[in-house]
Amino acid sequence: MSSAMPTAAAKQTDIHAWRVLILDFGSQYTQLIARRVRECGVYSEIHPWDMDEARLRAFRPAGIILSGGPESVNLDDPPRVSQAVFEIGVPVLGICYGMQAMAAQLGGKVEASAHREFGYAEIRPGDSELLAGLSDAGPSADPVLKVWMSHGDRVEALPQGFKAAGSSRNSPLAAMEDRARRYFGLQFHPEVTHTLQGQNILKRFVAEICGCPGDWTPDNIVADAIARVRATVGADRVLLGLSGGVDSSVVAALLHEAIGDQLTCVFVDHGLLRHHEGDQVMDTFAEHMHINVIRVNAAERFFAALKGISDPEQKRKIIGGLFIDVFDEEAHKLEGIKWLAQGTIYPDVIESAGAETGKAHVIKSHHNVGGLPARMRMSLVEPLRELFKDEVRKIGIELGLPREMVYRHPFPGPGLGVRVLGEVKPEYVALLQRADDIFIHELRANDLYDKVSQAFAVFLPVKSVGVMGDGRRYDYVVALRAVETIDFMTARWAHLPYEFLEHVSLRIINEVDGISRVTYDISGKPPATIEWE
Ligand code: XMP
Repeated sequence: MSSAMPTAAAKQTDIHAWRVLILDFGSQYTQLIARRVRECGVYSEIHPWDMDEARLRAFRPAGIILSGGPESVNLDDPPRVSQAVFEIGVPVLGICYGMQAMAAQLGGKVEASAHREFGYAEIRPGDSELLAGLSDAGPSADPVLKVWMSHGDRVEALPQGFKAAGSSRNSPLAAMEDRARRYFGLQFHPEVTHTLQGQNILKRFVAEICGCPGDWTPDNIVADAIARVRATVGADRVLLGLSGGVDSSVVAALLHEAIGDQLTCVFVDHGLLRHHEGDQVMDTFAEHMHINVIRVNAAERFFAALKGISDPEQKRKIIGGLFIDVFDEEAHKLEGIKWLAQGTIYPDVIESAGAETGKAHVIKSHHNVGGLPARMRMSLVEPLRELFKDEVRKIGIELGLPREMVYRHPFPGPGLGVRVLGEVKPEYVALLQRADDIFIHELRANDLYDKVSQAFAVFLPVKSVGVMGDGRRYDYVVALRAVETIDFMTARWAHLPYEFLEHVSLRIINEVDGISRVTYDISGKPPATIEWE
C-alpha cells in the first residue's frame, strides 16, 4: 500500500495541463482514440463535435483530434466543428470523417469514392511530418504502412496550404498536411490495432507535434487523485459501497490512501457471490489493508425474497432493490457521513453526457447506488470519473491491489442470481459456486484465464442420469461458458482445448456431489447473450 505515498508527496505536476481534445463525430472508435492518446501519457477528453467556441477555448487544448463518423460531408447539413478549432492556433488531426470535414471546412473538395475502402489497406507515405520514418516494410524497402480503412467518401481536392502526405490504391490523398498551420488529415484509422504503426503515429502527433510532455502516468494519476480527494472532502467522513468488483475496489484503495480512517465501506454480501468471495474481500480490505469495512451478511434475506421467483428480470429487480435497502439501512446506522463515494468511470460519464444531448445509445443503471444521496443528503465523490477501465486497473496495481482482483473477469451485479436458471435456491447456489470455482481455478492453472474475456459456470435445474460406481444417479447439470470479446456487445465462444474441457468436466462430476453432467456452451453473441438469463 505504500507505493503511492512517496509519489503523492513528491510529485505535484498538473497532469491535466497538457490535454488533447477529441471532438466526436460518432465513430465507434472514438473512445479508442482517447485511450490510445492516454497510452501516450497524455490526458484526453471526448466532447461532442458541436462543442461551442467558448467551451472550446476554455478547455485550452494542446491539440485537437477530429474523430471519424458515420456521416458524409456532402449531406445537406453535415456536422461541422466550430471555426474556432482552426483559430486557436493548436495542431489539429482529422481522422477519416474528421479529415473529410476538415478538408471541406477549409475549402477542399470531398466526394463519394467509386471504390469504397473497408478493412485492410496499404499506404505509401509521401513527404510527411506525421508519417516520416514509419514503415511496415523492411529497412531497405520503400516505406509502406499497413492500415485499417473504413470510408465511402474521399478527399478529391486539397484545401489551400495543404500537401498530399500519403496515398493508397484508391485514395491518392489518403493523408494530407498543412505544416505551416499544423493541420493533419488521415483517411485511415491510427487508433485501431490493425493499423500497425497507429500508436506511433498518435504518439508523434501528441508528443512531437503538440509537444505534450507525457506525464499522464499511473503514479501521477494516483498522486493527483489523492490530492484532489483530500482537497474535496477535507476532514469529512466518506461512505463507499464495496462490492469486490474492480471499480469499487480501486476506489476503496485510493480513498484509504488519501483519507485513511475517514473512509467507511459497507460490503453487502447477498449470498450470490463466487466461492469464498466474501471472505476474500474481507481478507484483502479489512485484514491486509486495515480499511474500515462493515460486512453485512444478508444472504438469508435475499434467498427469502427470491423464493418462488423464476423470471430473470424480476430476479434482477428484487436483488437490486434489496441491495439498496440493505445498504441504506447500514448507512443510516453511521453518524456524520457527508460524502458517498462511487466507482463511476469515464465511459459512464461519456454515455450519460451523450444521453443528455440525445447522442448516446445507452445509460448504465447503477443498481447499487439507488436514491441514497438525495435521501441522506450526501455529496458524491467520484475519483475515477476521468479514467477508462484499463487506467483504473493500472492504478489499482499502482495502489498495491492483488493482480487477480484487478484483472478479474466482469461479474454481474445480480451475481449468481442470474446464473442459477429459474428459482434461486441456496443449495443450487452452493453447487454452482463449487463447479464455477473448479472451472476458474483450472483456467488460471492452465494459463487460459487471461486469454478469455469472461468465463463462468451456469446451473441448470434439470436432472440428468449418470452412472456412479454401480448405481444410476439423477443429478443436476452445469454449463460452462467462456467468451472472447473486446466490448461485450458481441462475443465469440472461446475455443478452449478439448483436453482442458475434459479435465474440468471430470473434476466437477467427481468432486461436486449433486452434479452429474457438464456441457460447454458454443453459442456466439449475437444471437445468444453472454449470460444465460
Ligand atoms: P449479456 O448477457 O447481456 O452480458 O451478453 C454482457 C455483459 O454484461 C454483464 N451483465 C450484467 N451486469 N448486471 C450487471 O451488472 C446485470 O444484470 C447483467 N447482465 C449481464 C455480463 O456478465 C456481461 O459481462
